[in-house]
Amino acid sequence: SAQKDYKLWLQYNKIQNAVVASEYKTNLGGIVALGSSETSKISLAELETGILDMLGSKPETRSAIKGDNNVIVGSQPALNSDLQKVLASDFDKINNEGFIIKSISSKNKKQIVITGKNDVGVLYGVYRFLRLIQNHKSISNLNIVDAPKINLRVLNHWDNLDRTVERGYAGFSLWNWQKLPDFIDQRYIDYARANASIGINGTVLTNVNANALILTPQYLEKVKALANVFRPYGIKVYLTARFSAPIEIGGLKTADPKDTAVANWWKEKAKEIYNRIPDFGGFLVKANSEGQPGPQNYGRDHIDGANMLADAVAPFGGIIMWRAFVYSEHDANDRAKQAYAEFQPYDGKFKDNVIVQVKNGAIDFQPREPFHPLFGAMPETPLMMEFQITQEYLGFSTHLVYLPKLFQEVLEADTYQKGKGSTVAKVIDGSLSPQKLTGIAGVSNIGNDLNWTGHPFAQANWYGFGRLAWDPYLDSETIADEWLRSTFSNDEDFIKPIKTMMITSREAVVNYMTPLGLHHIMDTGHHYGPGPWVSDLSRPEWNPTYYHKADKNGIGFDRSKTGTNATAQYAQELEQLFDNAQTCPEIDLLWFHHLSWDYKLKNGQTLWNGLALKYQEGVNQVLEMQNTWNNSEKYVDKERFKEVQMLLKIQYKEAKWWRDACLLYFQQYSGKELPAGVEPPI
Ligand code: GCU
Repeated sequence: SAQKDYKLWLQYNKIQNAVVASEYKTNLGGIVALGSSETSKISLAELETGILDMLGSKPETRSAIKGDNNVIVGSQPALNSDLQKVLASDFDKINNEGFIIKSISSKNKKQIVITGKNDVGVLYGVYRFLRLIQNHKSISNLNIVDAPKINLRVLNHWDNLDRTVERGYAGFSLWNWQKLPDFIDQRYIDYARANASIGINGTVLTNVNANALILTPQYLEKVKALANVFRPYGIKVYLTARFSAPIEIGGLKTADPKDTAVANWWKEKAKEIYNRIPDFGGFLVKANSEGQPGPQNYGRDHIDGANMLADAVAPFGGIIMWRAFVYSEHDANDRAKQAYAEFQPYDGKFKDNVIVQVKNGAIDFQPREPFHPLFGAMPETPLMMEFQITQEYLGFSTHLVYLPKLFQEVLEADTYQKGKGSTVAKVIDGSLSPQKLTGIAGVSNIGNDLNWTGHPFAQANWYGFGRLAWDPYLDSETIADEWLRSTFSNDEDFIKPIKTMMITSREAVVNYMTPLGLHHIMDTGHHYGPGPWVSDLSRPEWNPTYYHKADKNGIGFDRSKTGTNATAQYAQELEQLFDNAQTCPEIDLLWFHHLSWDYKLKNGQTLWNGLALKYQEGVNQVLEMQNTWNNSEKYVDKERFKEVQMLLKIQYKEAKWWRDACLLYFQQYSGKELPAGVEPPI
């Protein structure tokens, strides 16, 4: 059963219910597979294994459409002219990566067609089709026409060349650089397969805090080997580019982007990479952020740096993902304002093949942050969303936190930049202001742990990221439903409570760590567990005390116009809403305001009591999650049941740790008793 963990959401469990199975058997008489590319072979193999595992027998493989009840799998050009005609209007609705799954009658015979404009689209269709069966949905009358709404759907691995993973909590890096290029670990193939099954089409193999060695010929040979594995699954490889690489591995004296020798070095480097990997995706760059080198080291700016690299990869169709995660200790009055202040004036100034990658919030992947004010504020610049799938600030891979709920909250947030309804999702999919590039990145939570992600339920965060990257308008509850059925069981008595558990888990972590808009009060460096008292770090904005500002008068960060005026970086509607504590959503209250301990919350409680009760609520929610899981024993294999049970036990213990530590610490300032309903500290 350890293998169950490994198989992720591609369990293809045998269908025990005879009635359910019989519908599938009737519809799946034969498979007609068209096309002979590597990708087509994968589609066929996947369909055959999936059906065999789930139904216990394999449909006949037919070389031509004979008889009834075939599944016809092939790309548009491979279909016969009749089928092309029947599906013409559907093909008009999809882009290059989209697919069509349709029940049709041809010459009075029933068939299912799975097709797309190219073979990768077909592969996506095959995975969707198999998921229908995994989720026990009917396949008798299908009409699914779907295509990704975002073009670049990319995982960011923060993996180092020594196989340690920055902020990784699932073992070591999957990439075994020492054994590459000649040894191809089966794991690379399984990784590609899992990603393709949810539509992820890019992977940045290396850490944003980059090591220039990856750009040397020895390593590029290894990257090429990985690219070859991933290609048939529709996945492109990208690398992080260390800005000072021309000095470190190129023997130049400078990395000044305006220096011709530097620009030429990058042009030659790009040529060298594309010679090996013709479909190389491009570079992800962290520059002048947290001590990393960048154009500012030479008195240049982000535009100079990004555009120089853009020119190097442009002849080969490559792109530059330039990160906007910048903040400096020299302007520490409000870290939350810095990226906007620096990047917003650059709007419209980047080359066509540059996309600016912005974290979902203005600080750093907190359990909750208001959306980053850059979204919607750079209409002439493609912005790529950066989510963090690995749980740096959310209990690592020890705490069960279902992140698609967080992602959805961000994507649904209204920026008001073009009036009501200007959601973040519309910014990043290019529907608010048309963009040449659209993208979304997730900082990967994957490592070489047997179960890939450290916590069995953290697999859902990888899965959910992929689904939302494909369609940022999906509902996180629907995604949880799909994932649970594909990963565990279709039993409604299991699905219902466990889905509730997942959905609750996000608010639970906010409640027991950082309720009411608190943020960045985790213990320092590692970011695990509470540390609101830490105040002695060299950079002011690394100290938790900088963020909560608790004192005798109250708690919270005044970012309204009486404070740092960060609210002015939002559209006027939001600026007004956030500026006033009475209208500011209470979930973000202490993000935007410093309020007295006696401040009255909407429910009539004082701020102190309300805060204490939120911490308690978080603890109660985890206890409830634990109970829910304990009741699900009979639906889950022993090993996964045990793992999750142990992890939830730790989570409960640590939720109490968070509550007690934070309340005891803040109590020194509030000077008030804990309200009724809050358990006394352990
Ligand atoms: C956070 C994280 C770092 C990471 C950085 C980034 O600050 O703690 O480890 O390098 O984000 O996104 O660049």
